Amino acid sequence: MNFWKKLKHPILVLAPMAGYTESPFRRLIKELEPSVILVSELISAEALRRKNEKTLRMIEFTPQEKHYYGIQLFGNEESCFLDAAKEVEKIGADFIDLNLGCPSPKIINSGHGSALLKNPLSTVKMIEALVKNTSLPVSVKMRLGFYDDNDLLETTKNLENAGISAIAIHGRTTKQRFSGTADWEKIYAVKNILNIPVIGNGDITSAQIAKERLQNLDGIMIGRASIRNPWIFKQCREIFEGKPLTPKPNLEQQLAFFKRHATFASEFKNEKWAMLELRKHFAHFLRGFPNAAQFRDRLMRVETQSEMNKIFEEISTHSNS
Ligand SMILES: Cc1cc2nc3c(=O)[nH]c(=O)nc-3n(C[C@H](O)[C@H](O)[C@H](O)COP(=O)(O)O)c2cc1C
Repeated sequence: MNFWKKLKHPILVLAPMAGYTESPFRRLIKELEPSVILVSELISAEALRRKNEKTLRMIEFTPQEKHYYGIQLFGNEESCFLDAAKEVEKIGADFIDLNLGCPSPKIINSGHGSALLKNPLSTVKMIEALVKNTSLPVSVKMRLGFYDDNDLLETTKNLENAGISAIAIHGRTTKQRFSGTADWEKIYAVKNILNIPVIGNGDITSAQIAKERLQNLDGIMIGRASIRNPWIFKQCREIFEGKPLTPKPNLEQQLAFFKRHATFASEFKNEKWAMLELRKHFAHFLRGFPNAAQFRDRLMRVETQSEMNKIFEEISTHSNS
């Protein structure tokens, strides 16, 4: 079922981020703003085809993430994508997303991720075969191009003709990695020639900026800013609907958010994993109160949820005194 055309506009998507957008974080984001579309971290099609145990664990999701949750595959072999798609169908995800954007040397040196943009014609052919052989909608997440954006319009039109259901574009080339600023004008130009939903991505740091950037696009994808402010999608929905914005969460709300994250992460795997998982998030969060750096430093070493809760109590007392 191609749900992409029926989504509430503008479409809001949590950008896939390896090491961050795991099931517990996705679930929290969805709880804060139910209209957000979720995508897994990038997953090796080849490992999935082999039913690698770690990979199967990585694509697991909770019922709360459905409607809509997609699995992002990377690879460069048609048969691998076809086999991996069968596994995605089996586990009941809502769509397949293809990674044509990852700039990491490990990925591109094997001809995966954004390296697929170096040979757009064969990439489109491979994607066409996947679209024909899976019952799930296929979307693509790409950069403007590998070295430059010369092929962008032709490639995206060919992808649409190949039958993809939606496309998300990060407004940088692979060569740029994360330098400079995302070029949204190039993304607007793609939407001018495509009928499928086009979702813009790159450097959205607030609901206000999301509103300014949307222009002719169907949606907005947000990555890094959602780690620092998981409420950003709720604020985006509010700004697009002309409602007053939920204020920046106060310290108590942030602490409650972490407790919920810890609970979801413990449920998903176990308490030890949950605490390791949360360390990445503590580093980005819990700022702007007395001795924040010291508290963060202690939180980076906690091993149990009860140790974390004790430090949270100290933070509350300390900041109210
Ligand atoms: C830590 C990290 C991990 C990422 N992992 C992925 C990934 O697995 N798949 C993908 O398509 N993009 C990945 N990206 C790129 C993001 O999805 C997004 O395109 C990029 O961060 C730009 O959006 P932003 O400015 O809103 O963060 C990653 C980005 C970061 C910062």
